Amino acid sequence: MPASALMNVMQTAARKAGRSLTRDFGEVEQLQVSMKGPANFVSAADHRAEEILFTELSRARPGYGFLMEERGEVKGADATHRWIVDPLDGTTNFLHGLPLFAISIALERDGELVAGLIYNPVSDETFTAEKGKGAYLNDRRRLRVAARTELAASLICTGIPHAGRPNHDLYLRELRAIMAVSSGIRRTGSAALDLAWTAAGRYDGFWESGIKPWDIAAGIVMLREAGAYATDIAGKDKMLETGSIVAGNETIHAKLLKLLKAADARGPAPVKAAGKTASKAPAKTAAK
Ligand code: IPD
Ligand code: CA
Ligand code: CA
Repeated sequence: MPASALMNVMQTAARKAGRSLTRDFGEVEQLQVSMKGPANFVSAADHRAEEILFTELSRARPGYGFLMEERGEVKGADATHRWIVDPLDGTTNFLHGLPLFAISIALERDGELVAGLIYNPVSDETFTAEKGKGAYLNDRRRLRVAARTELAASLICTGIPHAGRPNHDLYLRELRAIMAVSSGIRRTGSAALDLAWTAAGRYDGFWESGIKPWDIAAGIVMLREAGAYATDIAGKDKMLETGSIVAGNETIHAKLLKLLKAADARGPAPVKAAGKTASKAPAKTAAK
């Protein structure tokens, strides 16, 4: 499928920023052995990529606003369009020399997500989607969500809250519920790639909470155009607002939602004190 003018703009910007990230990724691999570690360098790489995306997208579509991870909200003269951009999704992977990271660009028109691009410059895979036009890998392969309907046969991806993030106990209950019934759990480390891979049928489902609009905006368009269901954990279309997302085909999505809701309503897991029977946990812990 030939790329539209809009997709060309997004691809040109992503490729340019991708070249910068790839160069910096090569450096990071060298820096791994230094005592200080490459953290400051990675943050500079992140900013460099964002700068390129901001410049390129502003030049191609003057007046459009931005929501970018580093810059935050940048109002444009054209209030109807907004780019939602993560210049480097998968920072921790990048920092550790793992080649699993992506540039994520979404376009919002009148408050609706209408286009998304997720680009991994190392594997040179570009996932694109435009509302009503389908989702593609490298402009060639049409993306379709996996058709499996049994969780027991399904590979489910997730995002795990790390130090500094809230709701570790809540997450462990969710994980316990889903790992007990699925054929495997993966944590890739880039929510953007996770969603693109779910749209491509590599993963059967995905869930994560505590994420930001730039992590998921492009992925949401991709999932929808690949025939997937995507909602927040309450089953609503408020993913950007609530920062939670559950995705899969209609059946897997419904099964995941049910398990997550039950896990979230269950309250903290009982902790066994030595010599005593653990007391029953409080009935309910509020979900995000
Ligand atoms: C992170 C990644 C990760 C997800 C985190 C995000 P970053 O984005 O998408 O997979 O679990 O919630 O913050 O920090 O690498 O841009
Ligand atoms: Ca991110
Ligand atoms: Ca980022």
